[in-house]
Amino acid sequence: MDQRATPVLDAIEQFRRDDEYTFALPGHRLGLGLDDRAAAVLSRGAFEADVITAKVAVSDAEKLLADAVGARHAVFTTCGSSISIHTAVLTVAGPGKRVLVDRNMHKSVVASLILAGAEPVWLRPRWDHERQIAHPAAADDVAAALRENPDVAAVLMITPTEYGTGADTGAIARICHRYGVPLLVDEAWGAHFPFHPDLPAAAVQAGADLAVQSLHKAGGGLCQASVILLGGDLVDPVDLRLRLDLITTTSTSALLYGSIDGYRRQMALDGHRLLDETLTRVKALRARLGKLPGLGVLDESIIGHDSVAQWDPLKLVADVSGLGITGYQAKDWMAERHRIVVQLGDARRVICSLTHADGFAALDRLATAFEDLVAGPPAGPAAGATPEIPPLEELNLEQAMSPREAYFAETEQVADPVGRISAEMISPYPPGVPAVLPGERFTAAVVRYLRAGLASGMTVPDASDPTLTTFRVVSR
Ligand SMILES: Cc1ncc(COP(=O)(O)O)c(C=O)c1O
Repeated sequence: MDQRATPVLDAIEQFRRDDEYTFALPGHRLGLGLDDRAAAVLSRGAFEADVITAKVAVSDAEKLLADAVGARHAVFTTCGSSISIHTAVLTVAGPGKRVLVDRNMHKSVVASLILAGAEPVWLRPRWDHERQIAHPAAADDVAAALRENPDVAAVLMITPTEYGTGADTGAIARICHRYGVPLLVDEAWGAHFPFHPDLPAAAVQAGADLAVQSLHKAGGGLCQASVILLGGDLVDPVDLRLRLDLITTTSTSALLYGSIDGYRRQMALDGHRLLDETLTRVKALRARLGKLPGLGVLDESIIGHDSVAQWDPLKLVADVSGLGITGYQAKDWMAERHRIVVQLGDARRVICSLTHADGFAALDRLATAFEDLVAGPPAGPAAGATPEIPPLEELNLEQAMSPREAYFAETEQVADPVGRISAEMISPYPPGVPAVLPGERFTAAVVRYLRAGLASGMTVPDASDPTLTTFRVVSR
């Protein structure tokens, strides 16, 4: 296909050239009715491009994207990978169906189980005791889980993780296919993977049946631009569109779709060169950071460690615990002293997501900030103020009820939830992986971890009581 084509962008231009006047939506009329302050901040151009585009333009753009990334089908969505994941789960599983799910999943997966009424069978991620992070489950774990639960409707994995470590998607896909079960991959952080051979293999190219990517994360789309890619033939593309139709907007955004069209064109035509240059710049950055005492930067030696089969070099994961500080502190320090916003800070690390947009000057600024941090870190937390991160195994909770049943049950707020069934999802940020799900039974370890984490800088935006004084549980 001619990857120079941009059907959505062309349709936006054509609409303007046609000089029609619309008495339909949007009511701002290409910005004519725009508030001056909104025009000054958002730019009039954004409103001029906010038109209703022809459906055929979108489907042509989807075909071009599928062709560029080696997928059978591509479907654009406009509420981030969250709605793409909801759509994917609703497509493969309905009420009472069981899905083998990576427990390291993003909170949107839990929402999709609640919406579908599906039951999770948990696949436990591998806990890296040395680094205190979770890696995706190993192929052997998937094989064992499928032997025990051959009736699951699908397997859903997250790879890569927020920390850039990835599963052996090809091997896992082959195992799933032996059971005739589709493999769905949350590849929210991997929109750049299809465009350079030195990056992890893109999930659909490795054999996954469906992959979800956020184009605003590692890619170049506007926020909320996401795509669902279909690989094999175990997920029906018509079912997928019907399920999306069930939950999506009826007023899609030309701006978001146009941004996907542009990113695809850029990457298909020039992505190899752009990413090549990015990888070279990032290699130099890593070499510079590697000289800093007390800073531990995750590198490719992680490949082969436990279940890690792939690693994204554009995720910069820097452990600052050797400086006697937490990642939360380093994150705040970077923002205050250097006006640098990192992707996330956790108890031990700061993580930056690097993209083709980050030129030499930006990476030099980042390296300088790390050099300053190492030369004069802030005072460390008072003794005992850093949360003990328990091994993940200690945070495994019993699934006492289905997520949907617990979510819609009679509930109460209690100060001591230990032994009670949660009716809420509690997802510490970073990285947004729920520590507690509706239907899981609270333990003392998880309550201690959440409260200590909150005290030291973690946030829990989705908790019913963000201070964690009380928790929402199923009434007895
Ligand atoms: C692994 C993962 N999956 C899904 C999502 C949801 O993506 P979005 O914010 O595009 O809805 C996120 C968001 O951070 C994520 O990290």
